[in-house]
Amino acid sequence: MNELTNKKIAALRVDYSLKEFDETHVLADPIKQFSVWFQEALEADVNEPNAMTLATVKQDNTPSARVVLLKGFNDTGFTFFTNYNSHKGQQIIQNPNVALVFCWLELQRQIRIEGKVSKISKQESDNYFYSRPLSSQIGAIASPQSTVIEGRHVLEEIYSSVKNNLHEKAPERPEHWGGYKVEPNLIEFWQGRSSRLHDRFEFVRNGNDWKHNRLAP
Ligand SMILES: Cc1cc2nc3c(=O)[nH]c(=O)nc-3n(C[C@H](O)[C@H](O)[C@H](O)COP(=O)(O)O)c2cc1C
Repeated sequence: MNELTNKKIAALRVDYSLKEFDETHVLADPIKQFSVWFQEALEADVNEPNAMTLATVKQDNTPSARVVLLKGFNDTGFTFFTNYNSHKGQQIIQNPNVALVFCWLELQRQIRIEGKVSKISKQESDNYFYSRPLSSQIGAIASPQSTVIEGRHVLEEIYSSVKNNLHEKAPERPEHWGGYKVEPNLIEFWQGRSSRLHDRFEFVRNGNDWKHNRLAP
C-alpha cells in the first residue's frame, strides 16, 4: 500500500507555465513587489493568501516551522500575532532570526523572507486584539498555547471560565498575546516556469536600499 502511494507521489508532476517573471517585471523595491504579488493573490482567489510558514531556531540550534497568518506589512516589516509564551515565542527570545515562506500554488509562486523578528508595541497589539471577534479574544486568553493538556475538555473548561468571569465586560488583551514584526534582510520571489527553468529574484538589503539578482532555479 505504502509502495503504491509512494509511486503515485513520485509521479505527481506539474509543468508550471502560467506566468513569467523577468527583468522587465521586477520592481526595485521588494516591498512594492510583495504588494503587487499579494494583490494578484487576492484577485486570483488564492486560498488563505496570508498563510505563511514561519521558521524559527530552537535552543539546540535546530529549526522549527509552523504556519501563521500575516496580518499586515509595510516598509518596516511583516506582522503576525501569537502567544508570546508559545514554543515559537520562547525560541524567538533566544534567537530572533526567522524565515517566512508564502506558497501560492494557484499562481505557481513562492515568496521567501528572512530577517529579524521583534515584538510590536502594546498599542499596536491592542489595536488588533480588540478588532477581533469576541470568541477569538476569549480563545486567545484561554489557550495556554504549546503546553501539554490532558484533553479537549481542558480548553473548553478554561474557555467557559474566562467567558463567565467576564460578567458581560469586554475582555482585556493578555500581556502574553500580541504581535511580532519580521524586519526583512532577504526577500526572494519565485515564479514556476516550464521545464523546471523557474524565475527567481533574490533581494538583499544593503543599508536602506535593496540589491537584487536573478538566481538559477
Ligand atoms: C492556516 C493556519 C493559520 C494559523 N495562524 C496562526 C496564527 O496567526 N498565530 C498562531 O499563533 N498560530 C497560528 N496557527 C497555528 C500554528 O501553526 C501553531 O500550531 C501554533 O502557533 C503553535 O506553534 P508553536 O508551538 O511552534 O509556538 C495557524 C495554523 C494554520 C494551519
